[in-house]
Amino acid sequence: MRTPSAGISGAARIGVAGDGISPRDYTRLCALILSESGIHLGAEKRTMLEIRIKRRLKALELISYAEYCEYLFGQRGMKEEIGHLIDVVSTNKTDFFREPKHFDCLVQTVLPQWLTVHNPAGHPCLVWSAGCSTGEEPYTLGIVLSEFAHSHPGFRFRILASDISTLVLEKAVRGVYSEETTKAIPIEIKRRYFLRSRSAGSPTRVRVVPELRSAVQFRRLNFMDADYEVAEPVDAIFCRNVIIYFDRPKGANPGQALPASRSGRLPVCGARRDAAQHETAARSSSPLPLQASRTWNLM
Ligand SMILES: C[S@@+](CC[C@H](N)C(=O)[O-])C[C@H]1O[C@@H](n2cnc3c(N)ncnc32)[C@H](O)[C@@H]1O
Repeated sequence: MRTPSAGISGAARIGVAGDGISPRDYTRLCALILSESGIHLGAEKRTMLEIRIKRRLKALELISYAEYCEYLFGQRGMKEEIGHLIDVVSTNKTDFFREPKHFDCLVQTVLPQWLTVHNPAGHPCLVWSAGCSTGEEPYTLGIVLSEFAHSHPGFRFRILASDISTLVLEKAVRGVYSEETTKAIPIEIKRRYFLRSRSAGSPTRVRVVPELRSAVQFRRLNFMDADYEVAEPVDAIFCRNVIIYFDRPKGANPGQALPASRSGRLPVCGARRDAAQHETAARSSSPLPLQASRTWNLM
């Protein structure tokens, strides 16, 4: 077998990979993805998988899906490639203030209840964005909770944000977005929580202000892990648009994997798109480092 990065450039050779993923390879790829991440791919997802794995063929300079599977299912691939495979397979669609009624529910229903039960001078409210993708959801939570704190003195909060994909987490930690992605955010909110790039040539980039970035702790977490090792109780969980990708009958469901007693204190705000509600909690690995690069202006 050709080893990754051998021979002529992948870009030049990739055009030869005309044959799609064989039925046998598709079956074993689906089984691996399911067992590693809980993501269920039906028969109709074969073209989608081919398109996404093509990026890996290119990166590894492999010529065909058969070669890729030989590498992936070999000893080295099982160690080094699975993370990349999960990165390309996961669907990371997200937005700031996506599905606004969930944030309205948090502010209008959950937090007022939470305040009546918990002494505002006590512990901070801990909200978890479970399956946070590139950070738009946890930063939206940060904006909403900061605004709530302005009108409710004494209210304090922290946000935990996790995802299985290190690629999306790296982007989330940077907190840098195209201005286009923030266009649904009212301008006065944008002025308070975003900075605009000063670098010539990149005027359309914005960055989340440091205060908001530091309110969110990002971690890698796989919902398929047996034990999430929650160190402290979580008060509300946003896991919308995540559970829909799981194959429930096989038990790959973060909501089921989490005992309610873990969060134990109060209501759950997170919901999947079809409105079922789940409680989840977090297993921590190392927090990702913050990176600073360019210079940023007030909006
Ligand atoms: C469609 S995005 C949802 C983002 C955000 N919650 C929202 O609603 O805008 C789903 C995210 O779940 C993550 N995910 C998928 N399987 C996962 C697993 N087994 N453990 C943790 N995160 C997972 C994906 O990497 C992806 O970023």
